[in-house]
Amino acid sequence: MKVLVVCLGNICRSPLAEGLLKSKVEALGLGWEIDSAGTGGYHEGSQPHEKSIEVAGRNGVDITNQRARKISREDFSKFDLILAMDTANRDDMYEMTSTMEQRNKIRLIMDLVYPNRDVSVPDPYYGGIEGYEKVWEMLDQACDKVIEVYASKAGKQ
Ligand code: 4NP
Repeated sequence: MKVLVVCLGNICRSPLAEGLLKSKVEALGLGWEIDSAGTGGYHEGSQPHEKSIEVAGRNGVDITNQRARKISREDFSKFDLILAMDTANRDDMYEMTSTMEQRNKIRLIMDLVYPNRDVSVPDPYYGGIEGYEKVWEMLDQACDKVIEVYASKAGKQ
């Protein structure tokens, strides 16, 4: 199972989702491939935001090796599941797909916790550390659900 988590800049929210999912998947020995990307390329090559690094670190997850990248069309073929942080990320990705198979891979990450309610993970970029803590809590819950739902479907592949 190959999972891509996506936000706008790939420096605040999706690095936290990547770190969380990787640590949970590794603890369970699932052998899934996890990556993250941004719909925008403004921060390509950058480390995650220092506040994301801090919140992840406090929770025992090291995300300092991650580097931001922009999503590419190949990602829609390569990954099995593509999880958007907010509705803008999701809709921007819909615009990039060329088949229904690709479109059907895209989901809002919070949809697993709150189905069909279009709940977005708020962008913490312009706020304080509390915003990043809130994002962590939401993503912690969502990543547990991702594993619960897709591990039963996909097994250890
Ligand atoms: P992210 O947050 O999408 O969670 O990585 C943002 C980071 C940077 C910008 C916007 C959102 N920006 O406009 O530079």
